[in-house]
Amino acid sequence: MITAPKPDIPDSCAPQVPESPCILVIFGATGDLCARKILPSLFSLFCRKLLPDPCLVVGVSRTELGDQGFRDHAQKNVNTHGLHEMAEASEQWEAFAKTLYHACVSGPDHFQNLADRLKKLDNSHGTQGNRLFYCAVPPSAYEEIARGVGMAGMARQDGNFSRMIVEKPFGHDLESAQRLNAVLSEHFAEEQIFRIDHYLAKDTVQNVLMLRFANALFEPLWNRQYVESVHITAAESLGVGHRAGYYDKAGILRDMFQNHMMQLLALCAMEPPSIYDAERIRDEKTKVYRALKPFPTTELGRYLTLGQYTSGVNDGRKLRAYVDEPGVAPDSDTPTYAHMKVFIDNWRWQGVPFHLVSGKRMAAKRTEVEVRFKEVPCSMFRNILGEHITANRLVLGIQPREEVTLTFQAKLPGSRMCLRNVAMTFDYNEGETGPAPNAYEKVLLDVLMGDHTLFWRQDGVDLCWGFLTPILVECDCPERKSLLRLYRAGQDGPDPAACESSSFKG
Ligand code: BG6
Repeated sequence: MITAPKPDIPDSCAPQVPESPCILVIFGATGDLCARKILPSLFSLFCRKLLPDPCLVVGVSRTELGDQGFRDHAQKNVNTHGLHEMAEASEQWEAFAKTLYHACVSGPDHFQNLADRLKKLDNSHGTQGNRLFYCAVPPSAYEEIARGVGMAGMARQDGNFSRMIVEKPFGHDLESAQRLNAVLSEHFAEEQIFRIDHYLAKDTVQNVLMLRFANALFEPLWNRQYVESVHITAAESLGVGHRAGYYDKAGILRDMFQNHMMQLLALCAMEPPSIYDAERIRDEKTKVYRALKPFPTTELGRYLTLGQYTSGVNDGRKLRAYVDEPGVAPDSDTPTYAHMKVFIDNWRWQGVPFHLVSGKRMAAKRTEVEVRFKEVPCSMFRNILGEHITANRLVLGIQPREEVTLTFQAKLPGSRMCLRNVAMTFDYNEGETGPAPNAYEKVLLDVLMGDHTLFWRQDGVDLCWGFLTPILVECDCPERKSLLRLYRAGQDGPDPAACESSSFKG
């Protein structure tokens, strides 16, 4: 076990407080995302004095709630999904509640009415015309909102700022992603758009770059000469839950691969930029996406395995099959699991497979990056131990275990010459100095500060869809059902032996 010395926290590491007053407009104020993530995160930031002063929140929905109705709705959800001690801190709540307003969108002039309302709030609270528009609505509504906001003049920046926040999925293929972007960019410049990928805001995901580029130790080995393969896993024990309506159309490739898995891949594979800066980091990621080796669609089965969960048991709990989940078509052939073998065509990574695996209803929640190094080139112990010596592995645990583990060989104590696999582990939270902001708090803080580092840039979105779209087209063929490998809910995906024989029609 490696212990972290009690760190000396320099002042520059204290959380930064955004300075510009503003109004955050949340479209989808009564929706799930707003209730579970946005409102609790805002209240937590408020309690930690990390919001600018003033920062008003205007919840927008089709249902008329009124300001008090929205405040009650927010309180209920912060109590349910937030940090309870904070919600119980009634003084803080009273102060926070006063920053919440509601606007109803109904009638032909609703965007103009909203613009007028925001201006009035500017006048009464000094929010200086600064706006953040958060689309916490189904993606099908993004275009209408971007248009409405733009047409009502709310995207204009004239000494103030106006920012648009959208959540994945950004389209469902290359064409629809480009169409969405065309509408967004009719009214907003790229620097005004913040495309959220909540994986990037996870502290341990950001740690991938720190580990690689703030240590001299790993980077010299981080290439085809020493790395045998890289395994990026995002396994979930949860099933599709109440999101079948969306998921059954999306499937695992659109839901997890086009975004989170591609971001993890880029962080593992990118070159170091000359300085830590949003655009330069995004430039380097884009180069990785550009270097992705296209799949030969005639041999898809060699590179891709798709699966779907059947009924099973986990922790003694009976779990239903995907096709029996509420809202899923009984003959659905939507994949809930995928294993994709990806290659990157550049000098650093030529020939090194990156295995991306993600699935729902697997044995346990586990997100990690595992770098498998090559075996020693020649074993001087071969006369006593045989040729094979287990190679080193570096595992970056992202969730739920936030740790870095390096495994290596050491002598087994005793008179015989024997080896054993041992591990050095660094627990990410050891020596920590207080609660780190959760992913949504981090995302909100960054948008408030206008920092793009953790957000997708459109060229990256296009390149990833460009890579995935031919695969999706092939997978969408009517024969797909017979290509799906079934796996029992609560197990780690399809049987690898069955996958070996999996093959797509060429
Ligand atoms: C979301 C996907 O983007 O990420 C979900 O739409 C998935 O299907 C979730 O469950 C996983 O996120 P996390 O943070 O729980 O790993």
